[in-house]
Amino acid sequence: MWINLHCVRAAPALSRRDFPAGFHFGTAASSYQYEGAATTGGRKASIWDEFAKIPGKIVDSTSGDVAIDQYHRFEDDIDLMVDLGTDAYRFSISWSRIFPDRKINPEGVAHYNRLIDRLIEKGITPFVTILHSDTPLALDEEYGSWLSPRIRKDFAEYAELCFSLFGDRVKNWITLNEPHLQANFAYIIGLLAPGRCSQEYPRGCAAGNSSTEAYLVVHNFLLAHAAAVGIYRSRFQHQGGSIGIAIDASWYEPLTSSRSDEEAAQRARDFEVGWILDPIFFGDYPDSMRRLVGDRLPRFSVEDKALVQGSLDFLGVNHYTTNYATTGLDFPLSLVGYYKDHNVRLLAQKDGVSLGPQVNGINVVPWGFEKLLGYIRVRYKNPRVFITENGISDAVDSLTNSSNLGDLTRINYISGYVDAMLTAIRKGSTIRGYFVWSLCDNWEWTNGFTWRYGLYYVDRHDNLTRYPKESAKWFKSFLAGKYYNT
Ligand code: NOJ
Repeated sequence: MWINLHCVRAAPALSRRDFPAGFHFGTAASSYQYEGAATTGGRKASIWDEFAKIPGKIVDSTSGDVAIDQYHRFEDDIDLMVDLGTDAYRFSISWSRIFPDRKINPEGVAHYNRLIDRLIEKGITPFVTILHSDTPLALDEEYGSWLSPRIRKDFAEYAELCFSLFGDRVKNWITLNEPHLQANFAYIIGLLAPGRCSQEYPRGCAAGNSSTEAYLVVHNFLLAHAAAVGIYRSRFQHQGGSIGIAIDASWYEPLTSSRSDEEAAQRARDFEVGWILDPIFFGDYPDSMRRLVGDRLPRFSVEDKALVQGSLDFLGVNHYTTNYATTGLDFPLSLVGYYKDHNVRLLAQKDGVSLGPQVNGINVVPWGFEKLLGYIRVRYKNPRVFITENGISDAVDSLTNSSNLGDLTRINYISGYVDAMLTAIRKGSTIRGYFVWSLCDNWEWTNGFTWRYGLYYVDRHDNLTRYPKESAKWFKSFLAGKYYNT
């Protein structure tokens, strides 16, 4: 295998051999971003099928109708995973493929049976996300999906179906993906489906007009998650698996050491990580949220609290970036969202000096990852963690064809972040696996196909053929136990 080592300047010397036995290295994906086959085999529409077709919502006017066609090409993609040397794959199940209109769709079920069986046959452990953004459209039309408590029962039934159909082989379950980001982007700034905006969001959008929806949505996410965990623990214990949730978690560094900046950074953490994890670990939302959001923040009944508290066996962490935090109103920095309530402004620079190189809204700051992992270790008493996503997209104009695959930024990013994770492990964090987002270039939501996160380039002009980027070659060497000391 060839790799141009002279170009991998900042990559630290490390290899898989530095990690504990049994540590998983894998890649991550999701149904709507990968599968395509949107109307094949009895699949019904999700909220994304509808949202992507609204003019102006997706920068290149594409959708996940075909995505990268993994539905038909999963065997080839599993070969790529094997060739890389990964031992785990995180993917999500499409609810509207296996359980449309609350009825089992045998063709959809057969697809996931084939996928799971093939992964296992090839020595790849499946990590399955039950819902990764693509809620069935019918539930949104029927009662507003995540805005209504009714979603909890529907989600719990769907999750139970997943456990009963696939749990004999799937031992690692993730209920939901990035509840904070979903609430923020889909119910405050309207960039993700179903595209609703808070009344305070200056740009506004056609749907939604309250400043309460995001808080209701997260409340329903937490209770739906907890209901699924309760079912798994009470009825599927014999399957011997574990269950968790995947949160989005950036690191927020105070802009200065002033008390007000320290407090702003803590508020930013409270309104992201704490919003989801404090109820799960401590039984209620962070105090700062209660103080700032007041009655718009739902309350947990005694029974709900008991259901939510302790409702995970492991924590999935999706981490991408770090920002400075200071007091202020964060607009128009739409990439990180907008809350009037938390009064935090995020910055990528201090005194004209950047936190790190920046690509498509991601500041490359490995030390921020280590700090985040330390924060989780201390605040939440060292839970078992999987890094369920970490990665970077190529600068929009950098990789333009299949003979131009030198993604050195990605090699430096991944190696730097893996190194930071190793430091956290050595300091005592219980981290059991790491998943690169993503195996292949795929359909990146509002950025369509313009943001490419893959280790493999996907040629959209030539039959969606996959080509290894330099980062795939680097990752393969790393996983083979080779060290590159540059
Ligand atoms: C988080 C999401 O889970 C995934 O769907 C998305 O593509 C990546 N981050 C990159 O933005």
